[in-house]
Amino acid sequence: MFRTHTCGQLRIADKDTTVTLAGWVQTVRKFGSITFVDLRDRYGITQLLFSESLNAELDANPLGREFVLQVTGTVNERSNKNNNIPTGDIELLVTTFKILNKSITPPFTIQDDTDGGDDLRMKYRFLDLRRNAVKKNLELRYAVGRSTRNYLHENNFMDIETPFLIKSTQEGARDFVVPSRMNAGQFYALPQSPQTFKQLLMVSGYDRYYQIVKCFRDEDLRADRQPEFTQIDCEMCFVEQEDILQMFEGLVKRIFKDVKNIDYTDVVERMTWENAMWTYGNDKPDIRFEMKLTNLKFPSHTFLGQQDISSLISGVDFKVFDEAETVIAVAATGCSEYTRKQTDELTEWVKRPQVGMKGLVYIKCNIDGTFKSSVDKFYSEAKLKAIAEAANAKAGDLLLIVAGAEERTRKAASDLRMYLGSQLGLRKTEEFKLLWVLDFPLFEYAEEDNRWVARHHPFTSPKPSDIETMIGNDPTINNAAEYLKHPYANIKANAYDMVLNGNEIGGGSIRIFQKELQQKMFAALGMDEQEQQHKFGFLLGAFEYGAPPHGGIAFGFDRLCSILGGSESIRDFIAFPKNNSGRDVMIDAPSTIDDKQFDELQIKLDLKS
Ligand code: AMO
Repeated sequence: MFRTHTCGQLRIADKDTTVTLAGWVQTVRKFGSITFVDLRDRYGITQLLFSESLNAELDANPLGREFVLQVTGTVNERSNKNNNIPTGDIELLVTTFKILNKSITPPFTIQDDTDGGDDLRMKYRFLDLRRNAVKKNLELRYAVGRSTRNYLHENNFMDIETPFLIKSTQEGARDFVVPSRMNAGQFYALPQSPQTFKQLLMVSGYDRYYQIVKCFRDEDLRADRQPEFTQIDCEMCFVEQEDILQMFEGLVKRIFKDVKNIDYTDVVERMTWENAMWTYGNDKPDIRFEMKLTNLKFPSHTFLGQQDISSLISGVDFKVFDEAETVIAVAATGCSEYTRKQTDELTEWVKRPQVGMKGLVYIKCNIDGTFKSSVDKFYSEAKLKAIAEAANAKAGDLLLIVAGAEERTRKAASDLRMYLGSQLGLRKTEEFKLLWVLDFPLFEYAEEDNRWVARHHPFTSPKPSDIETMIGNDPTINNAAEYLKHPYANIKANAYDMVLNGNEIGGGSIRIFQKELQQKMFAALGMDEQEQQHKFGFLLGAFEYGAPPHGGIAFGFDRLCSILGGSESIRDFIAFPKNNSGRDVMIDAPSTIDDKQFDELQIKLDLKS
């Protein structure tokens, strides 16, 4: 037998037995005439003791880090026990050993706190994957996958594969394209998601489908985005929104239980998109902490029905607020005693290009009931008090106020809230809060083309109460400046996102399943009949053969794993990820191809410089 046990298996109960292990040399320590070696494999580490009698052999065959070693010996009780590892009570008294393969010196240490930087670790990812920290992440990913499959299987879902060489699915990103040799001049697109295929499966009657599937999107990368990533993709027939919400709350709760041993018994909160934007400035709010935003001023055509309290800040000739479209406050709990240096730092933080504010106004709500602000010149203490009260700031809080154009200011206020939440330790990685965000707008306005784009994707149905508005109105936007007054601006989608700790982990919708409504949708997005047929003729055709009502959702599998693992970077949970420029630096891809391949594809490369 190559090995009788793994390096994580032996315990004191195995004392005096003869065993064979195989693994990698983590460390070699000489201690007088004896040598200690830590031998590592996927399961753990076992200490090996080479006694003096093996010294001559060790001198002839010196061991080094990451050598592959096979050892046979007797299990011995350690005199110096190590409580930090499960095998810490024993060691192996080596009788024979064999070097199975040598290793050159690795470019970084294979340890939890490695000395290797990001780039180096990615270049030698096969070594990085040997590290415990990375291995744990992949184990977690495997556990999430297993739990998902079990739950969906128990609920009658069927795993069906869909093709990768397809044509554009219009999820809103750019496609990766693959040239076809047999059809010169034509290209496949890699799926941004299996969206149209899963809908076709519903037409075929496979009423509960799922797939843990790769998706490809050529978009700018961030910590939570990869060009190829994995979705838990699901679709169901004969369902309403409520059925989907219940089924997939169930999935996430099951994953919590199986993977983290957490009983998520709280009711999963629900919030409309509009309420999320108003209260948190963001459609994926982190509701682990309060610090809700206060809208001191907002454009009159938005958030209809919300109370206008802008008189609190007007009438004192403070131009920054008077000239701003939107003014939003956030009360930093318990921060009234921030020093000048700290408030300056916050100001610099909001002035960074990523946030893009011109400055930050603060009001200190002192413990003794007095108020001090950066705008004392303009506002009396009574006014400051009134603003603070409106913003629910209590004695001891620091009220921070940003002002500017609507979209940017709302985002800045949201960013500031999240930043403060992190600074104040309110975003605990081991606390989990789920949230459904509902009632998204169906359309978004695309300024460059002066037309509507689908906020989710073009297959999402409007709320039943809005179907008539959609059918009965011309989508053309005659007056760009007043697009918000167009009836389409208020159409709500039958769509939902699942948010976990401020991250969108999943999104889906009830679909359009009638040909006419789907055509109307495509037309609203600026597609004439010819383009509709060219791009989606297959779907429109299928809708003529008894398409059932259906809906679904897809979860970002990598994202879900990273949050459960307490990290914001999905790369740590992908065995072979790409860097921020979309490169795999280990295999050096993308790369050029041979002239012969260009010839076969009948493609002539003419790069524009
Ligand atoms: P959507 O585009 O919202 O919906 O994607 C679903 C989920 O996938 C994750 N995600 C990503 N994860 C990593 N890298 C990326 N580049 C990336 N893009 C998206 C997110 C997101 O919530 N077909 C629809 C689903 C449906 O309607 O059923 C879709 O793909 O967590």
